[in-house]
Amino acid sequence: MQAIQIRNLRIDPPLLLAPMLGLTHSALRLIMLGFGGVGLLSTEMLSAKRLPGENSSISPYLLRTEREGPLSYQLLTSNDKEIDRAMDALQLLKADAVDLNMGCPSSAVGKFGAGVVLMEQPEEARRIVAEARLRTSLPLSVKIRLGSYADSRKLKAFCSMLEGEGVDMLTVHARFKHESFARRPRWAYIAEIKECIKIPVIANGGVFSVEDAETCLRVSGADGLMLGRGAVIRPWLFAEIARTVFGRYISEPVASLPDIYSAFVQTLNANYRPVYRLVRLKGFTKYFAQNYKFGHSLASRVQSSSSMDEAIERACTFFANNKSEINYVSQ
Ligand SMILES: Cc1cc2nc3c(=O)[nH]c(=O)nc-3n(C[C@H](O)[C@H](O)[C@H](O)COP(=O)(O)O)c2cc1C
Repeated sequence: MQAIQIRNLRIDPPLLLAPMLGLTHSALRLIMLGFGGVGLLSTEMLSAKRLPGENSSISPYLLRTEREGPLSYQLLTSNDKEIDRAMDALQLLKADAVDLNMGCPSSAVGKFGAGVVLMEQPEEARRIVAEARLRTSLPLSVKIRLGSYADSRKLKAFCSMLEGEGVDMLTVHARFKHESFARRPRWAYIAEIKECIKIPVIANGGVFSVEDAETCLRVSGADGLMLGRGAVIRPWLFAEIARTVFGRYISEPVASLPDIYSAFVQTLNANYRPVYRLVRLKGFTKYFAQNYKFGHSLASRVQSSSSMDEAIERACTFFANNKSEINYVSQ
């Protein structure tokens, strides 16, 4: 499978980390980088309105170490007037790429006309994309869902509009607006989008294993994959897919689950101010705990902790009493 080249950015292997609120931050990115196999990292969604006022040296959303690249910054906006200043801020932050969120189904976001509701307002979406294209020469991508309901013509017209306005790459979370994560993603719809546009299309949704990655690529015909929750549960999943599906040489990691958890805690403690640590540990644990048969118990014990020390002590007790099925990730 080919690397993706958009403008001056090479995405190799074509495996992208999904933007995830509260999850896709520096500590998670560093854990994944330790295993390798990620072609493009991401931030969580950032408000285009608030971004210019954020202090990047203390903001937990903007924290980034030198190792974290290439890194795409995702903007959430419903207003093209916010784009100009947001792009200036991203230039200063040395963003490697910019993504526009047109897929978030949350009603809190939709109330402001942002996220997936933009797919129902193509003229608004066009204005935002056109302004973004005008204001940056960075690689520009858009992340969408399949729309509100099955309407292939409308979906294709929306994607063609994005391409026509100068978007360099499109990511498709293969679910309709109201579909929950419990539903199987509809990867086949991505194949229809591929028929009508020439820019690289990235498939997203429901990839939790090498087998899922192979099936998703076959069914969707996509140029690459974006992994979200699967890579939080198994931060080595990128490396496994890169090795097995894309034939990249990446050495087999040797680390136990408690080692990985401990490395995550250390990174939080080293890089984040105390007030920002616990909420991020709770967010990560919710997913990482799924490696264990009784992981819900780990997740709930950490969730109800009121300090980092308490959470770590509870996690250590859990690890001592519970052996995972995956003991060493190299096995
Ligand atoms: C906790 C959480 C937060 C998310 N936040 C964002 C976000 O900030 N921006 C975005 O475009 N999508 C967001 N998403 C959606 C993911 O990027 C992705 O599309 C979705 O999880 C499906 O991929 P997956 O099955 O690989 O997890 C979020 C998903 C989760 C679970």
